[in-house]
Amino acid sequence: MNSLISQSIRIASLRAARRTMELPKKSLLTGTPRLPDNFPSKVRIVEVGARDGLQNEPTILPTNAKTELIARLADAGLKSIEAGAFVNPKLVPQMADTPAVLKELRRRQIMDASYMDTSFCALVPNMKGYEGAVEAGAREILVFTAAGEGFSKKNTNCTIDESIERFKPILARAHNHGVRVRGGVSTIFADPYDGPIEPTKVAEVAKRLHDLGCYEIMLGDTTGVGTPEQTKRLLEEVTKVIPASELAMHFHNTHNNALANIFASLSFGVSSFDSGVAGFGGCPFAKGAPGNISTEDVVHMLHTLGIETGVDLAKVIETGRWLGTQLGKEPVSEVSRNGYGDLSFLTFSKEREL
Ligand code: HMG
Ligand code: MG
Repeated sequence: MNSLISQSIRIASLRAARRTMELPKKSLLTGTPRLPDNFPSKVRIVEVGARDGLQNEPTILPTNAKTELIARLADAGLKSIEAGAFVNPKLVPQMADTPAVLKELRRRQIMDASYMDTSFCALVPNMKGYEGAVEAGAREILVFTAAGEGFSKKNTNCTIDESIERFKPILARAHNHGVRVRGGVSTIFADPYDGPIEPTKVAEVAKRLHDLGCYEIMLGDTTGVGTPEQTKRLLEEVTKVIPASELAMHFHNTHNNALANIFASLSFGVSSFDSGVAGFGGCPFAKGAPGNISTEDVVHMLHTLGIETGVDLAKVIETGRWLGTQLGKEPVSEVSRNGYGDLSFLTFSKEREL
């Protein structure tokens, strides 16, 4: 059975490689892309494939494969990588070895200078998680809550208010330990249990996290139902209380709107985006929601817009295919499936033709 799966993956990869070769060598784009001034010239990609991409996977990836995945991502130029989650292993078995993964990454960081400027972040829902993260050597954590009460209860067994109360002593201790804290708000458009969410509610929860001292607030479309128009309405509201430079967007790609939503976010000056290599995954507490938009597709779109990411697209595609062979499935990524043209003419210049 396993050899059948690997054979079909090999055939699919060969087909994808052939399609890559059939594409025109020269990109159909010419000249420097024309973007309005408020678009960022550089974007930070927060790679979530080793956490969000795996947490819902029934096949448990061995610890050494997880560290290899993360090492490959770091080698592809990704400087911000979610490496795991300190959560109840009975609820999310795939994350049970996060302490071992983080310890190994910390060891490599000490031994190998090329890892020094890469940040490995771990999800922390409560003080027990914080203590585990610090013990494993984490230098950055994500505390996460939601804009919808139904999801908050299912995801972390507490109300939104209770989650904020849990975070207060975590932020205080992290501040003393020099641990960077990112804050996350899930269900920004709809809660899978309670229904639609108002932008004002998202802004209120995001501000509470920001006021606690989180250096960046990630807004998560957990179920991937948002549209560019909704993204615009949301950011109009949230940027009243938090500057765009301190926001990050996290889109799941249920209805293929994630790239359009990223484009809408760029127009507000947002310059930090979560994405997952190979587009795998989803949240075990939001049934039916698929993976994040793939890093491959986000990097490709940004590069074609002339926006720099520091990421080597070919290496991420290769890593996504490697992960696919580990999990027995094909990457959910258009550029991985269909290839892309030569983008070497792009200059990533701040000066844009207007
Ligand atoms: P709880 O049941 O309220 O906690 O869980 P508790 O204190 O009552 O303890 C119950 C058991 O959990 C005990 O174990 C604790 O030791 C253990 P037992 O005695 O039964 O063997 N426990 C823990 N174990 C490991 N690490 C911990 C921890 N805390 C308690 N930190 C808790 C509260 C939050 C822990 C639980 O509900 C949980 O683990 N939930 C899973 C949350 C999760 O991983 N969700 C997916 C990630 S979030 C996401 O995907 C959204 C995002 O991508 C953005 C987006 O898409 O919108 C970020
Ligand atoms: Mg997610």
